[in-house]
Parts: sequence; C-alpha cells; structure tokens
Amino acid sequence: MIDFHRTLIAPSVLACDFARVGEEVQRAEAGGADWIHCDVMDGHFVDNISFGPAFVEAVSRFTKLPLDVHLMIAHPDHYLPRFLKLAGNITVHVEAPHDVSATLRAIREAGCTAGLALNPATPIECIEPYLGQFDLLLAMTVVPGFGGQPFMPEIMQKVAAARDLRESCGLAFHIEVDGGIGVETAKISIESGANVLVAGTSVFRAPDLSAAVRDLRG
Ligand code: DX5
Ligand code: ZN
Repeated sequence: MIDFHRTLIAPSVLACDFARVGEEVQRAEAGGADWIHCDVMDGHFVDNISFGPAFVEAVSRFTKLPLDVHLMIAHPDHYLPRFLKLAGNITVHVEAPHDVSATLRAIREAGCTAGLALNPATPIECIEPYLGQFDLLLAMTVVPGFGGQPFMPEIMQKVAAARDLRESCGLAFHIEVDGGIGVETAKISIESGANVLVAGTSVFRAPDLSAAVRDLRG
C-alpha cells in the first residue's frame, strides 16, 4: 500500500564522493534518509554519463534502505533486468523510447514499485494512458543530466495537477520531485503535493547531513 502522506527523503548519490561511496551511503542512512536515489545516465537520453548497474550494486552493499533507481537512459526496458534485483523502486521516463506500459508491468512483476518520470517540458496529460500502472510519479524540477541546477518553480503546477488527478481518480501513488531541492524548495514542493524529495547537493554537500535531512522534511 502506497502511503503518500508521509514525506520521504531520497538523497541522490550523484552528489556524493564516488571514491568513498560506501561511507557516503552509510552516512545518509545514519542521517535519517528514507531511500537512496541512484541516477543512472547513459549519455544519450541525457547529456551526461554517471554510472551503471555495477555501481548501483556497490551502493546496495552498504545500506538496507530501498534504492530508488532513476533511469535516465534510452531503451530502459533493455537494461531493466540488470537493476531489478537491486532496487526498491525503478523510475523510467515517459519520453524514452520503450513500451511504457510493458516496462512498468515488468518492474511491478519483479516485485519493485514502478515510477514514471516527466521532464520539465512534458505535460501532465502524458501520464493519462498509464494511470493505475505506476506507484510513483516523478516530476523533474530541473532538466535532467546534472546535479546542482536551480529548481524550476513552474513545475509546481504540474505537481498540484498530479495530486488533483490522483484524488479525482481515487489512485494511490507517490509524487516525487528531483532537482534543486533545498529547504525552501522542499517546502514549496510539499505544499504543492510532493511527498518524496530527491536531494543531492543539499544533502551530501551539507556541513551536517542529518540536519539537512531533518530540515528538508520540514
Ligand atoms: C538530475 C538528477 C538528480 C540530481 C539532483 O538529473 O536526476 O537526481 O542528482 O541533484 P541536486 O539535488 O543537486 O539538484
Ligand atoms: Zn534523479
């Protein structure tokens, strides 16, 4: 059962020190994180290459927290089997070339929750064919590819529309925001309807990680 009334904090390892990833993930868990967000980028779907399944597997060895795997890759259906055993949630983009319904179904059938992500330019209407097929909607609050970018406040309309659609359809799914999340933008996001907050820079680069996680929760 999806409890979308609880705020969850998902630090993104993209902003951690890759040379000490184990310690960094343990630091996030000890600091009160709920999920660990893993940003997989292929250099095609986005203009950056981050890491693949071997790195996600390494992350999984250092935490009991669910891994929230965000696939910013073309053909996510092809690479999906390499992540299924490692993840709690897997999110795929609606804009990527794949059979979205089939990919979401494959994620659920493997026992993970399924997320559907929208780039900033993608309208909320694009999720309508998939309602009931996902457990998490990710509204990107930056153009994906890089950490440390400024939050796009205009995406809050989409977050609020997703919340309204969820209610009018009697559905249960998390609403996640990703990109430029800090104390102020977390507050705006929660008010607009988000309950899962991805944060890279504001958590891993904070002088006190636990305080940063606590402050994001509000
Ligand atoms: C952006 C990634 C984000 C990124 C967020 O492409 O999907 O998860 O790591 O980083 P910050 O919190 O630094 O904006
Ligand atoms: Zn992400």
